[in-house]
Parts: sequence; structure tokens; C-alpha cells
Amino acid sequence: MKVKAVVLAAGLGTRMKSSLPKMLHPLGGRPLIAWAVEVARMATGASPALIVGPESGDLREAAGGTCEFILQEERLGTGHAVLQAANDLRGKADQILVLNGDMPLIQAGTLKRLIEQQISHSAVMTLLTTNSDQARGFGRILRDAKGEIEAIIEEAQATPEQLLLRELNVGAYCCQAEWLWQNLTKLPLSPKGEYYLTDLAALARADGERISNVEISSPDESIGINTRLHLSQAERALRQRINNAWMERGVTIIDPDATYIDWNVEVGVDSVLLPNTHLLGTTSIGGGCTLGPNTIIRDSRVGEECTILSSVIEGALIEDQVEIGPFAHLREGAHLGRGVHMGNFGEVKNSHLEAGVKMGHFSYIGDAHIGENTNIGAGTITCNFDGVHKNVTEIGADVFIGSDTMLVAPLKIGRGARTGAGSVVTKDVPEDSLAVGVPARVIRKLEKGD
Ligand code: UD1
Ligand code: MG
Repeated sequence: MKVKAVVLAAGLGTRMKSSLPKMLHPLGGRPLIAWAVEVARMATGASPALIVGPESGDLREAAGGTCEFILQEERLGTGHAVLQAANDLRGKADQILVLNGDMPLIQAGTLKRLIEQQISHSAVMTLLTTNSDQARGFGRILRDAKGEIEAIIEEAQATPEQLLLRELNVGAYCCQAEWLWQNLTKLPLSPKGEYYLTDLAALARADGERISNVEISSPDESIGINTRLHLSQAERALRQRINNAWMERGVTIIDPDATYIDWNVEVGVDSVLLPNTHLLGTTSIGGGCTLGPNTIIRDSRVGEECTILSSVIEGALIEDQVEIGPFAHLREGAHLGRGVHMGNFGEVKNSHLEAGVKMGHFSYIGDAHIGENTNIGAGTITCNFDGVHKNVTEIGADVFIGSDTMLVAPLKIGRGARTGAGSVVTKDVPEDSLAVGVPARVIRKLEKGD
């Protein structure tokens, strides 16, 4: 039995009151549409067809290359949207799974149940429904005296009595393909001037056909996003889902309501996430780390047994047993080797600090390479920008940079060298030499034990 999914994503999302199309609003670190596309693919085993509106370039990109895109030129409602797929899909599948693109929390298992029930029952259409006190503007399911579904009434058209109904239309449907294509053209125009997909229920009934339903047990799954309030509710539910999964896999999360982990982040066993920790983008964290409180890590790799307190880490590579913070900032291209200690108010950009480097306090390191076990004194600055170019600073291993040293790049400091406190170094310093002053000059060769 061939099932093809159609995801509806052409709506304007006007209730979001946003210049960004609704489907591109991020949720858990990826655009809304990506959630629906993935779940449709998982449920049917194939990429869905996506109904998109005009000027949908960014949306096509966010949905990924394997989807089939079908244009809905005029946004004339959900029924009209599905009808746009008739030419392309007719004869190619036995069942059509229609999914509103604004339901990011629906699970593949639920959609599989919907498909299975539709295939095993003699209904022309099976709906996903939920019983909830939070109507969120959903269509109400109307049943006859025998309990059979007879219609779906949209909120705007519902009578006060119908508004009290708690059985709701979630926005996922599995239909016999040929029946669907035939009946989409018969949908009536709604008072709002749209063709509602939901009016298929009444059409089926008028033909004496049965409509079946599958009820969702977890209410979160049914959150359909129409407003920013719904977006925040979905974000919260997703956060809970993601955090629960990490706790089950051996990560300690002290306050799951205040811990934010994007969908494809990885975290190792026995790591502890303290409140207000954000793990974003393509981040991976090794085992045994302690992160937070108040730490933001984006698009970075962190090794095993690291401690990062109240810091912001972006585009960085951090090896094992590194200590960072409080109040450190790692930027794109920062690479801290094993056992590096980076204390408070430090910034590192596009620089490699090799194993065992220590920079305890108030330093800026940009476009630099620092050898093993070098000590960067408090207040050290790599003056990497001359107003036109970014210049490189190379510091060897076992160097001691005195407090408040200005390293005016391009510059090389040889292995085992030292600079005096407050020096402004404008010329290369040879190995094992001491440079002091403003501008700094080499005053002597260092002895063993100096
Ligand atoms: C829809 C259902 C409602 C259900 C709810 C669940 C209809 C008429 N109503 O209402 O019964 O309870 O979802 O979330 O279907 N779209 C298009 N083209 C259009 C209009 C919409 O592609 O011309 C897409 C939207 O991008 C969206 C989906 O269809 O992904 C649903 O549209 P939306 O306007 O959000 O419908 P709801 O009011 O939420
Ligand atoms: Mg909606």
C-alpha cells in the first residue's frame, strides 16, 4: 500500500504578526517546517510533497532538497492547497497523508497509527483528534447520535454550543487517494472565502461514507502554531521532551525548565547541566562536564570533563579537562587544548591555545598560536588589528607573558621567553630571552631557573 505525504506550508501565518513566514520561525533550533518534513518522512518512509506559496525561496531551502514542491498560487484555504497536488500525485499513491506544516510536535509513531488505522478500516478518511480543554482555535469534531463523525466545524463558524465541544481536529488526515482527489473539487466555499479541507468530513457523510479517527493521548503533540503564544507553548513542550530524553540517557539536568538544548546537540553521560545553560546549533559535549549556570554554547565541540561557568562559547573547539569562566567569551575558531585554564573576563578568537596554557584574567587573544604550558599574564592583549589587516601572534611553549603585556602583531615570541609587566612588544623576542619596556627590548638571555 503506497502512502504519500502532503505537507501544507503555503499559509501566510498572519496571526504570527511577523515579517518572517510562519514556517521559518525557529523551534528547538530549526525552522518549523523542518519538523513537519522530517516527521512526514519518518511516517511514510519517503520525502513529502510540500505545498508552498509564491516567493517561498527560503522555505524551500529550510525544508531540504529532497522534498517535492508544489505551488499554491493563491492562498484559498487548506482544501485548495491539497488540490494543487492532484496533478502531480494522482495515480501515484493509494493513500494520502495530509499534514498541516505548523504542527512540529507530532510524532512519527502517531502518524503511523493514523495510516495503519486508515488502511485497516473501511473509512475514506481517518482524522487525528484530541480531547482537550485548550481549544487553540481548532476545528470541533461533530458526532451524530450513534457517535459517528459527521462534520468538522471551524471555530469561526461554530455555534456557542459547538464551541463547547472538546473533541478537536488536530490537523493530520489520511485519505483514500482517489476519493480525496475526486472530493477536493466539490468542497464548498466557506464564509471566509476559502476551501476548507475539513469540509471533506461533511462531504463523506453526505455520500454515506465512514470517517474514522485516531486519538492523540499526549496533548503536546497536537500543538498547532498559529500565534507566538502557541510558539512559546511548543518550545516549552519540546524543551521538556528533549531534556527528558537526555536525562534518560544519563545527563543530569538540575532545572529542566531552565535548560535549553537544540534538537541535534549531543551530550555525554554524567555531564551536569546547571540552570540557564543553552546548548545550541551543532554543539556536542563530552561526558563528565559541568556546564553553567548561565552558559551559552553554540556550534562548538567540548571534550570530556570540562567545566564552563557563566560563559559564552561560539564556534569553538575545546579539548578534555578544560576550565573556563566565569565570564569568558570564546569566538569562532577558538581552540583550547587539553587542560587549558581560561579564567574570568578572557576572550579568544581564531586562536589555538595548546595543552596546559593558562590565561587567568582579563586577556584578549586573537589570531594567535600559543604553545604548551605557556602562561598568559592578567590583562594581556594581542593587538592583532592594525586598522587594515588582522595579524598573527605566535607564542612558543613554556613562555611567561607578564601582566598587561601588549603584543603588537605580527609578532613571534620564542619558546621559553618572558615579557615584563606592562611591556609593549613590537619586535620578535628570541627563545629564552627577557623583553621589557615600552616599546619592549630584549635585556638579557634567561638562565636556567630564572
Ligand atoms: C486548521 C484546521 C483546523 C484544525 C487546525 C489544527 C482547516 C480549515 N482548519 O486550522 O480544523 O483544528 O488546523 O492546527 O483546515 N495552508 C496552506 N494554504 C492555504 C491555507 C493554509 O498551505 O491556503 C497551510 C498553512 O501553512 C498551515 C496549514 O495549512 O500549515 C493549516 O492552516 P492554518 O491557517 O494554520 O489553519 P488553522 O486555522 O490552524
Ligand atoms: Mg494552524
